[in-house]
Amino acid sequence: MFCADGQEAPTADDGRHCFGKREDIIQAKRVVKLVNGRDVLVLYHEGEFYALDVRCYHSGGNLGLGDIEEFGGRLCIVCPWHKYKITLLEGEGMYQPVDPAVKPPRPGPWRSKGVKQRVHSVTESDGYIYVTLNPSTEPIESDCYQTDKFRATLVKM
Ligand code: FES
Repeated sequence: MFCADGQEAPTADDGRHCFGKREDIIQAKRVVKLVNGRDVLVLYHEGEFYALDVRCYHSGGNLGLGDIEEFGGRLCIVCPWHKYKITLLEGEGMYQPVDPAVKPPRPGPWRSKGVKQRVHSVTESDGYIYVTLNPSTEPIESDCYQTDKFRATLVKM
């Protein structure tokens, strides 16, 4: 299957969505395409590809502009809007609790808030990168920013 550059990711016969040539994505580091009405970010970091909904579960910030760092030994993307940390593999929100009983107060170890961001699976075939959308029907917080209503809000901003 040939993947042309474009806004919408073409769909292969097996339902996977093509994001482009592996080497092109490595060079670009980040690619966003529309997949079945979702804006999905594929990013390349230190030899691995990751895919997740591009808008942050907190308030819809553009994760395509986020830095990648480790927190608590887990690789995360840091939302550029309010600095929420989201694990790249699972979409979990990470936080550091502060025990008010401890004086002076200081952040404790990193913990998970649970899955907040929808992540998708990435596969490679014949030099092309494909995304298979997360099949879970359970709502995930980031889903609310994948609507036409929210896109219309972004255009006005
Ligand atoms: Fe991402 Fe607020 S929108 S941290």
